[in-house]
Amino acid sequence: MSKKRQLKLGATLTGVGTSKYTWRNPEIPGDASVDFDYYAAQAQQAEAGKFDFVFIVDSTYITEQSAPHYLNRLEPLTLLSGLGAVTEKIGLVGTLTASFTQPFTVARQFASLDHISAGRAGWNVVTTGLEGAARNYSKEKHYPHDERYRIAEEHLEVVRGLWDSWEDDAHVRDKETGVFFDPSKLHALNHKGKYFSVQGPLNIARSKQGQPVIFQAGGSEDGRNLAAKSADAIFTGHESIEEAKAFYQDIKKRAAAYGRASEEILVFPGIGPIIGRTAEEAEAKYQAIAGLVTLEDALDQLGRPFTYHDFKQYPLDEPFPDLGDLGSNSYRSATDRIKRIAKEEKLTLRQTALRFATPRSSFVGTPEKIADTIEKWFEEGAADGFIIHSGVPNALKDFTELVVPILQERGLFRQEYEGDTLRDHLGFEFPVNRYTKQRLAQG
Ligand SMILES: Cc1cc2nc3c(=O)[nH]c(=O)nc-3n(C[C@H](O)[C@H](O)[C@H](O)COP(=O)(O)O)c2cc1C
Repeated sequence: MSKKRQLKLGATLTGVGTSKYTWRNPEIPGDASVDFDYYAAQAQQAEAGKFDFVFIVDSTYITEQSAPHYLNRLEPLTLLSGLGAVTEKIGLVGTLTASFTQPFTVARQFASLDHISAGRAGWNVVTTGLEGAARNYSKEKHYPHDERYRIAEEHLEVVRGLWDSWEDDAHVRDKETGVFFDPSKLHALNHKGKYFSVQGPLNIARSKQGQPVIFQAGGSEDGRNLAAKSADAIFTGHESIEEAKAFYQDIKKRAAAYGRASEEILVFPGIGPIIGRTAEEAEAKYQAIAGLVTLEDALDQLGRPFTYHDFKQYPLDEPFPDLGDLGSNSYRSATDRIKRIAKEEKLTLRQTALRFATPRSSFVGTPEKIADTIEKWFEEGAADGFIIHSGVPNALKDFTELVVPILQERGLFRQEYEGDTLRDHLGFEFPVNRYTKQRLAQG
């Protein structure tokens, strides 16, 4: 009998929040983005709510127009290692770019996090949308969009190869005989590719979950293909269920073309629920947030996915400017979407900036309404799970205390963790080491 499909939940922890204005809320400490205790309390809150994982976003280029969280925040793997020590079950997922890192280092870092946390690590592989980041990594220009996905694909292949350097029973550690390891179970990768040349082996063994879980967050053609071929899960963002369903079906179809079953890749839309005990209270919270947004902030925020393009140079009340190709070498799927919506809905620049600074999603309302919407998206094939962004103070607390119990009552979400590792939570099989598999196949 096949197991009932279960909803998955992740929590994005972003200190003072990724909008320009959230830090001004009196309930959010101004230094939350560099305050370990703040993150620890949120991770523990998410664990009390039986979330599958916490997620730390990242990027590596700032300007004076950047939102406060981007200006001063903790590096994800360092932070996640600390969080691993103050939590027991919850998965620990962090972003690291494949464009400006070496696979050997990345493989070591995530393998270390996986050991520290006893099998709870996940890597969100991104290619870096902010073109200026190249200048922080000794390059004048970022790689073209399609090339950075080819780099990412090879990078990931190498990382996964390195993670299999040691078969699971390679470490004998027999103090009597003096045998520390079995050399027949240690494997060099000897990778020579277009972008990377890596001999191996990696100097750290596999963890309790075999290999860290792979997430991907790019929504362009190349991003979707990389996820469909190689990732365990994809993050995305949609305003409507129709948009989300189309994306979901597209990802599952692409995965099938790579010979993968539907449940081998999970789709996680990011949502920012605003919860009130009554519909009026939720609406008031939304309005309070929207009220903090200045037009100047909204324009800066709009500029970020276009690598901090200066939108203040255009007339505000004329149609959204024709930007040509601008943005397509940056956060391509995000900038394409902004351009498309502005055109389809005939928005002015002012309307576009405000619309994207304070998106009005279907996830504003009472706990029952939020649970209904989540159930609908889950049951109708728009999501396998959600990552919850906390754009308002206490949003995560409200969600875990008010919405999670409803989802549990309906049998959609777990009451208790079924296992210990992130793979256990997400329902993935233990990945047998490739060399062990070969050995077994040879009899
Ligand atoms: C929920 C979610 C989380 C993301 N987290 C990150 C992140 O931490 N760092 C990053 O550089 N990009 C992040 N992205 C952006 C994507 O990685 C990607 O750059 C962007 O969607 C553009 O992708 P594309 O160039 O394939 O269209 C995130 C996107 C989504 C939807």
